[in-house]
Amino acid sequence: MFDREAYNRRMQWYLHDRFGMFIHWGLYAIPARGEWVRSQEQIPVEEYEAFFKEFNPVDFDPHKWARAAKEAGMNYAVLTAKHHDGFCLFDSALTDYKSTNTPCGRDLVREYLDAFRAEGLKVGLYYSLLDWHHPDYPHYGDRHHPMRENEAFKNHTYDFDRYLSYMHGQVKELCTNYGKIDLFWFDFSYDDMSGEKWKATELVRMIRSYLPDVLIDNRMTVNRMDQKQEGTGSLLSGDPAEYSGDFVSPEQIIPPEGIRDVGGNPVAWESCITMNNHWGYCAADKHYKPADMLIKKLVECVSKNGNLLLNVGPDARGNIPRQSLDILRRIGEWMHHSSASIYGCGGSELPKPDYGRITAAPGRLYFHVMEPLVGFVPLTGVRTQDIEQIRLLCDGSELKIADNWITENYPDVTFVSFGESPLLPDPVDTVIEVQLKKMD
Ligand code: GLC
Repeated sequence: MFDREAYNRRMQWYLHDRFGMFIHWGLYAIPARGEWVRSQEQIPVEEYEAFFKEFNPVDFDPHKWARAAKEAGMNYAVLTAKHHDGFCLFDSALTDYKSTNTPCGRDLVREYLDAFRAEGLKVGLYYSLLDWHHPDYPHYGDRHHPMRENEAFKNHTYDFDRYLSYMHGQVKELCTNYGKIDLFWFDFSYDDMSGEKWKATELVRMIRSYLPDVLIDNRMTVNRMDQKQEGTGSLLSGDPAEYSGDFVSPEQIIPPEGIRDVGGNPVAWESCITMNNHWGYCAADKHYKPADMLIKKLVECVSKNGNLLLNVGPDARGNIPRQSLDILRRIGEWMHHSSASIYGCGGSELPKPDYGRITAAPGRLYFHVMEPLVGFVPLTGVRTQDIEQIRLLCDGSELKIADNWITENYPDVTFVSFGESPLLPDPVDTVIEVQLKKMD
């Protein structure tokens, strides 16, 4: 039975924090064509081995990463402890295929955890359910494996249970050797590689026996939004299975209307989004989303009761790309004065205004004005008599309620004025904070 009380308790920080950093990093930073390079180019294991022998991120300083996240206003982070290529960034006793056996020689997961915790951030680990390095993960005929078309693997037999013990064993290592992990991000399920195929109930029970409050994403199963899922229901059914996870993980999209369960209740979700068009470092991909756009996307997520997990892909030397750092810095500038409209906030029942979006917290509404207006700014749906005070969030200054013979025609709308200039105080997103009167 789904324990909603325990669920609500463990979800509290996550629903408050709203903004996190995804970090995709591994051997694939060397070929620098994204984390799927081994699969996309069907690279044999021997050839990929060259990167293992070479891996030595001399500039790796997780404190720098943590500070960049913190200064951007992020509250949690998720690092790829193992991606699909099977390379482990931690000192697992169950494999030799790990960072400690490369020239790097360091347990990168441990250093990441220490550094991010030191900045006061919650820490998460991504762990790939797929494994293109393990001999017992199906090769030939698997939809994604680099050797999927290699006839040499056609008649191999795979002991998938042996892979599962390895996988469960590694997750246990992560649960027991690294202190408190706040979030696990498993990736991903496909076709019949889903749910109990991963021995998912057993896996989740094991995880929760060590880390009762850890959050888990929803990719241990093919968590389809239309709720067609084997066994018991998905998160959207209102009665999820143990392995359905704690939040939905839309990828490279922001759900058009947020996500609700069958009962119409908001379901926790987190959009994961790349800054350019790759998760892992891709040297040639310069298609970065402008910082101003990403600020608006963060607001959009929160206005729909969601989180944003924004990705960086550090390079082979261990540096977060300069473009990403610039973006993070710019987001941080905005967050510095406007994070009250993000943290602890969610959506509002009020209709979305033409000029932007609304986020809300108990007793407070935040009108995000993203487009300049002709004349006063209408706070649609807010009656003047319900307002305690109105402030411009970026400098705390008072905003006067505007009324004249024109506004009189709109008795249910409160208008405010930004003053003489037709331009917005912050052209990206000027936030108006409305404190509501306490209702008895
Ligand atoms: C994916 C990909 C992947 C990436 C991720 C992030 O499905 O396989 O490379 O790590 O999800 O959401």
